Amino acid sequence: MIFIKTASEIDKIRRSSRLASQTLDYAKSVIQPGMTTKKLDQLIHKFITSHGAVPATLGYKGFPASSCISINDTVVHGIPDEQVIMDGDIVKVDVTTILNGFFGDTCRTFKIGKVRPEAEALTDTAYEAMMLAIGTVHDGSYLGDIGAAIQGLVESRGYSVVRDFVGHGVGKQFHESPNVPHYGRKGTGVKLRDGMIFTIEPMINEGAWQVKVLDDGWTAKTIDGKLSAQFEHSLLVDGSEAEILTVSA
Ligand code: MF3
Ligand code: CO
Ligand code: CO
Repeated sequence: MIFIKTASEIDKIRRSSRLASQTLDYAKSVIQPGMTTKKLDQLIHKFITSHGAVPATLGYKGFPASSCISINDTVVHGIPDEQVIMDGDIVKVDVTTILNGFFGDTCRTFKIGKVRPEAEALTDTAYEAMMLAIGTVHDGSYLGDIGAAIQGLVESRGYSVVRDFVGHGVGKQFHESPNVPHYGRKGTGVKLRDGMIFTIEPMINEGAWQVKVLDDGWTAKTIDGKLSAQFEHSLLVDGSEAEILTVSA
């Protein structure tokens, strides 16, 4: 069942989402070559908790950190550790806040220092694909419109869309209905309605779409060792458009 959020729930999810976005602004301001992902995660933890919120990933199904930090060929769910962030890396930072009981979920790919043009182009395509998909969302549009928009753009540039992880309803819980695939056919699937809130979070691979999960049970890497980029926003279906909730102001 897909929740239709009330005005008061929307207000609370909006506040949590704003804090999640501000957390990524903060991460962007402190991230630098030479920093371990663990150090960045500790800073993120302090930022979230000092703003009266709880990092949703900490202890979630046993996940041990306050953010997911995934570098280069790590697609998602990178566990912050002693890995050092290097000049030229693309670094996905995904944060989810719980503020007054409500969840906000967002991810960006940061380009560290001077990145290769290939990495730059992949990252820019992931962002464009997310924004193009957001542009399809309105009361009465279809879930399949989102996936079709992303897949169309991404595959036209010779990249691939990860299938193993999808966007999701969000708000009262971390992951709610519906699942939001980043591939698919226009005009298919659930019809979107005012008051639905969900994420769009395409993971775009330079090579094959397949991923492998490491023995830690979390870290998902591309099977071919090529790069992957991701952006994520939480959105509200609002009449003729989507309101992006994970914005900073
Ligand atoms: N934030 C991720 C998402 O976009 C989920 C991370 S779950 C974790 O859905 F346990 F890996 F942190
Ligand atoms: Co998400
Ligand atoms: Co996320």
